Amino acid sequence: MYPESGSEIDSLITAADNAMYQSKSLGKNRFTLHQTESRSQVSTKSWLEFGAAHMVGIAEIDAQHQAIATMLNRLNDSLRNSEPQEGLVQQLEGVVASVATHFETEEDLMAQSDYPDAQSHMIQHKRLLAEVEHLKLRFLEGGELLALQWLKDWFFGHILGSDIQFGSFLAKLEPKAHPET
Ligand SMILES: [Fe+2]
Ligand SMILES: [Fe+2]
Repeated sequence: MYPESGSEIDSLITAADNAMYQSKSLGKNRFTLHQTESRSQVSTKSWLEFGAAHMVGIAEIDAQHQAIATMLNRLNDSLRNSEPQEGLVQQLEGVVASVATHFETEEDLMAQSDYPDAQSHMIQHKRLLAEVEHLKLRFLEGGELLALQWLKDWFFGHILGSDIQFGSFLAKLEPKAHPET
């Protein structure tokens, strides 16, 4: 039940899943509502939990990823607190600007290191930036939860699927990339 069981799409799906398993364990052929008491423990956690698994191993990139995760969590909190839409859109624009700057940092490092997968990695960045207007529109038309969920999934998916690969490549080149060390 929104918002008692969760205020984000993935939190709601997790709550529904837990309730379904409870129904199964009680012998099936019944319905179970998610227990809202347990949510108080969940809600103290950040929505985007940026952890060791998301670290690329390059300080500048990790710091930027962490800052973007913090901004997305803040936007999610503002949405949860039903703050005015104008402020939410401003925050979304702030996230997009930070993401664009971050992409430039990664792409500069790729050019400096002759990264062989730079082309396909940069296409992913370009696709995200091309989606931005659509995302803003979705946000303005009442699809904030979907837009934010999409951004979260994209962000973590891209880090785990592409940025970490680039991090490993750079780590192997480290003496060349950082001649002073
Ligand atoms: Fe990145
Ligand atoms: Fe990237």
